[in-house]
Amino acid sequence: MAAILVCFSVIATVVFAGSSGASGQELTADYYEESCPLALATIKFVVGAAIVKEPRMGASLVRLHFHDCFVNGCDGSILLDDTDDMIGEKTAKANNMSVRGYDVIDAIKSAVNTACLGNVVSCADILAVAARDSIVALGGSSYDVLLGRRDATTASLDDADESIPNPFMDLPELVANFKSQGLTLHDLVVLSGAHTLGYSRCVFYRDRIYNETGTLDPSYAASLDARCPPTGEDEPLASLDDTPTTMDTDYYQGLMQGHALLHTDQQLYLQGRGGDSDRLVRYYAGNPDKFAEDFGAAMLKLGGLRPLTGEEGEVREDCRVMNQE
Ligand code: HEM
Ligand SMILES: *[C@@H]1O[C@H](CO)[C@@H](O)[C@H](O)[C@H]1NC(C)=O
Ligand SMILES: *[C@@H]1O[C@H](CO)[C@@H](O)[C@H](O)[C@H]1NC(C)=O
Repeated sequence: MAAILVCFSVIATVVFAGSSGASGQELTADYYEESCPLALATIKFVVGAAIVKEPRMGASLVRLHFHDCFVNGCDGSILLDDTDDMIGEKTAKANNMSVRGYDVIDAIKSAVNTACLGNVVSCADILAVAARDSIVALGGSSYDVLLGRRDATTASLDDADESIPNPFMDLPELVANFKSQGLTLHDLVVLSGAHTLGYSRCVFYRDRIYNETGTLDPSYAASLDARCPPTGEDEPLASLDDTPTTMDTDYYQGLMQGHALLHTDQQLYLQGRGGDSDRLVRYYAGNPDKFAEDFGAAMLKLGGLRPLTGEEGEVREDCRVMNQE
């Protein structure tokens, strides 16, 4: 038995070494077990309360983690407010007036600082755990989040504009964008399944409902016209699938019916012309259990993107500002 455990830990070390920071330390599931045994329960409690208050918040917290990880790794950089010397990521094209949940992260951070009797849990780890807890609260399967990320001491608007995909890309651009993060087409299709949750503003789907043909179901488009007129308000929301507060496979079924709200979502299913991507959409549409399993694994991969570990970065006291020297 001991030999098996040793053997497993060697394999785990080899597998995760590739995704850890320059200091070479890996993320581990039990990272806070000694330093703050109440950390995970505290995060889960605050996330649960936020979702009861507003079910959409679960979606918003999942997206926050994604937009953090795609910009120089999962390092909490998205949470930093602008300073005199630094324009951060909050006003990047994909984030400005769009990413939400910062106040929930603040509430989690202060609850965790209390529960841990000090500043122990990084903001980057809070984002990873809050995403998982949101998915579970909305009916998804659980997975172990690996922990031990440290927080960045800087953020970059330009890097965010460069790295976060936009909803007007075609499939090859999406694939290239994910590839630059070390993620595959399969990861793209599975992680896009997060759009089984949440909403989009009119500004991101207007062009699709008025100017796109072929892949779009006309009656679905028509149902959105009144809400999102050709000119005018950019704010009106439409849900990304027909069940925006439930982790399910309706998103993939919707793609097969021409009901993708975003251009990029429909790019994953081009009615036979999309090759592997089409096949994966069809597969997940019909296999909810496989989706639940593979989505957790893909979130783990997302959460492992270039973390700061060991002595790199810091553990921020307040997620919005770097610690004072
Ligand atoms: C593949 C490229 C992707 C593009 C182009 C994209 C784009 C978008 C856009 C335009 C919105 C609407 C935002 C708004 O109107 O304010 C959105 C919402 C959302 N995205 Fe993505 N996304 C992508 C992938 C992902 C991934 C990988 C995840 C998570 C793993 C994710 C999670 C979400 C969630 C949960 C929402 C709803 C947020 C809410 O209601 O507050 N997205 N996405
Ligand atoms: C962010 O959105 C606000 C409100 O629409 C706008 O005034 C501001 O110029 C935007 N910032 C950037 C950097 O685009
Ligand atoms: C549709 O496309 C045309 C031509 O590219 C553009 O001028 C127009 O603004 C677009 N309409 C909407 C509602 O996006």
